[in-house]
Amino acid sequence: MTISAGSYLGDYEVLELIGRGAMGTVYRGYHKALDRVVAIKVLDALASDLHGAERFQREARAIAHLRHPNILAVFDFGEVSGVPYMVVEYMPGGSLAAALAAGPALSALAVITLLRGVAAGLDHAHAAGVVHRDVKPANVLLSSERVPVLGDFGLARLRIDTSLTGTGLIVGSPAYMAPEQAKGLEVGPAADRYSFAVMAYQMLTGELPFNADQPLEVLYMHVNSQPFLPSAVRLGLPQALDTVLLRGLAKESSERWGSCTALVDRIAGSLGSSSIGDIALTLVLPRPLPSSRAAATPATQKIEAVAGNGAASPAGESRVAAVSGAMPTGRNLRLMEWVIVASIAALVAVLSLLLNHPPTAAGGP
Ligand SMILES: Nc1ncnc2c1ncn2[C@@H]1O[C@H](COP(=O)(O)OP(=O)(O)OP(=O)(O)O)[C@@H](O)[C@H]1O
Ligand SMILES: [Mg+2]
Repeated sequence: MTISAGSYLGDYEVLELIGRGAMGTVYRGYHKALDRVVAIKVLDALASDLHGAERFQREARAIAHLRHPNILAVFDFGEVSGVPYMVVEYMPGGSLAAALAAGPALSALAVITLLRGVAAGLDHAHAAGVVHRDVKPANVLLSSERVPVLGDFGLARLRIDTSLTGTGLIVGSPAYMAPEQAKGLEVGPAADRYSFAVMAYQMLTGELPFNADQPLEVLYMHVNSQPFLPSAVRLGLPQALDTVLLRGLAKESSERWGSCTALVDRIAGSLGSSSIGDIALTLVLPRPLPSSRAAATPATQKIEAVAGNGAASPAGESRVAAVSGAMPTGRNLRLMEWVIVASIAALVAVLSLLLNHPPTAAGGP
């Protein structure tokens, strides 16, 4: 079925294309009787057992039952010519990812306010027994008042093909994925809290804790590497923040903060009320790293291990400089936003290859 401006999905008229993601296409739509502008997500990348299936209805209902000011409201879901779609609140402010990439720099207070909103939504969902599985700035949308609202709840789960159970599938965004998720293990609220800590680290330091140009390298780092201390990544951040964020990024799920709000409270506490608002943070802007740091980056060593390049070399350094500033643009953005769907067998093969060439300890605590 071709969808374009003027098409109807149920009672909703399609107004215009907003954008495309890994799961499908998002349109701005309109419900005339309700005089309501909505966003319609047409899902085209579902697991094969979901089409026309009861499982889609079940998952969609669980998402629709969540009601919270920081969770995107689901109004409706249905199917047209076998194509499933969800109708959700329209968020005129776009995504947090777009806002971070476009700048301007946010104050520490603005960062904490945004994080606190997302934390409230996630903690609410966890209390209701729902796990998001794909927490990242691209899935945080902004209202016209810049209130952060978490969307795409549980959608990653709709990509897991239960008919393939036994093969094991990894679904999520590598840059934000918890170690247990990267390993294809059972995922619970603690995995969302890890992804949330990655977001917090990124918003406070301007860099992702783990970054490389291949998604599997990033997964490997979540499982095996230690991130740089936030206070070393961005000068001016207090050392007290290091312990707080690193606990959020603990490899062992039981060692992480018990809620996202607890993490935000500790972040605010470690920044200190006097410094909040004073520290202007430049967020996820591309910037070359000093060569000394680039040479010691876990990403460098990982790449060298993969490429078999041996010790740090000019080639290795320049490659890392490209990787380090990778977040905002073009090809690297696509790679980091790539939703990985890989068989565990393939992952295990790659991880065992990497384990034969382990990176040496670097940077972190
Ligand atoms: N409810 C909404 N209101 C306004 N814009 C939206 C809404 N939902 C999504 N968008 C925008 O539509 C585009 C596609 O979103 P989509 O969720 O499909 O992709 P994504 O979040 O980048 O990746 P993923 O498939 O991993 O979720 C993005 O630009 C997003 O900001
Ligand atoms: Mg999304």
